[in-house]
Amino acid sequence: MTFESWLEQRQRFFNGHLARFLPDNCPGQLAEAMEYSLLDGGKRLRPILTLTAAGVCGGRDEDAIAAAVAVEMIHTYSLIHDDLPAMDDDDLRRGRPTSHKVFGEALAILAGDALLTQAFAVVAQSHLPGEIVADIVRELAVSAGPQGMVGGQVLDIAGTAELQEMYRLKTGALIRSSVRIGAVAARADAQQLGALSRYADALGFCYQLTDDILDACGTREQTGKTVGTDARLGKDTFVSLHGEEKVSEMAARQAVEAELALKELAGQPGVDKLVELVHYVSRRKN
Ligand code: IPE
Ligand code: IPE
Ligand code: MG
Ligand code: MG
Ligand code: MG
Repeated sequence: MTFESWLEQRQRFFNGHLARFLPDNCPGQLAEAMEYSLLDGGKRLRPILTLTAAGVCGGRDEDAIAAAVAVEMIHTYSLIHDDLPAMDDDDLRRGRPTSHKVFGEALAILAGDALLTQAFAVVAQSHLPGEIVADIVRELAVSAGPQGMVGGQVLDIAGTAELQEMYRLKTGALIRSSVRIGAVAARADAQQLGALSRYADALGFCYQLTDDILDACGTREQTGKTVGTDARLGKDTFVSLHGEEKVSEMAARQAVEAELALKELAGQPGVDKLVELVHYVSRRKN
């Protein structure tokens, strides 16, 4: 099976489970707004990382699906808020008008809030043992909050922080927790968790480097989102500072780093997929 067909199969599996984790009986247009952003489009890389990391550590999809859904809900909330006029002010996401363009700013903010909150309900209501739920909640909360994604978005807006540190928080933290919660759901040992965390850190950096390349050099059709935003907002990125070619090389180097981190787990089921995934990300076109 090619990597691309494996990825499509995993996306289909994940998408097939997602809708049942949404709440029933939401007031007004809230359900519609949550579904609009969550259910269609998106590469689903974070939940696929969760499921694959669980597999590497001997877990099954059903042990990790709630954690995978939760991380995709948090990621989707971060995209809705990131696109708001007060932030990046973008009009296209996942190939469609952004949430605030369709539902207005107030409902877009609330749909984001609802997805963030629902993520924790999904984990809390899962069949996992209490101590594993607590570990997953802690991983997600820390990586999404002030010491993670939200903190990184603040640094992004301020524009004064060291770039790699800002990337580590705004993008890296949630990618790291995507991998770690899969491992935790599968009761990983310290060695597995350590190797997977090092893999995820290199992958996260690689991911934001290629995101910045696509913003500078990609098209709306390719990416399904507004391009040229970083330049329009006068943001420094590695691409604006060093040029596309240099940054592609940096991304390729991070992919090699990520691959090296997994050497000690060689032979575990799914490790080959994680290796292919990071090289795919380093060359991605969407
Ligand atoms: C975009 O994430 C925002 C970043 C943190 C770089 P993705 O490129 O993973 O977006 P989707 O989920 O595929 O839409
Ligand atoms: C956003 O980074 C990271 C988030 C926490 C959502 P970007 O602002 O570069 O993400 P895109 O390019 O809009 O997807
Ligand atoms: Mg942004
Ligand atoms: Mg943005
Ligand atoms: Mg971007």
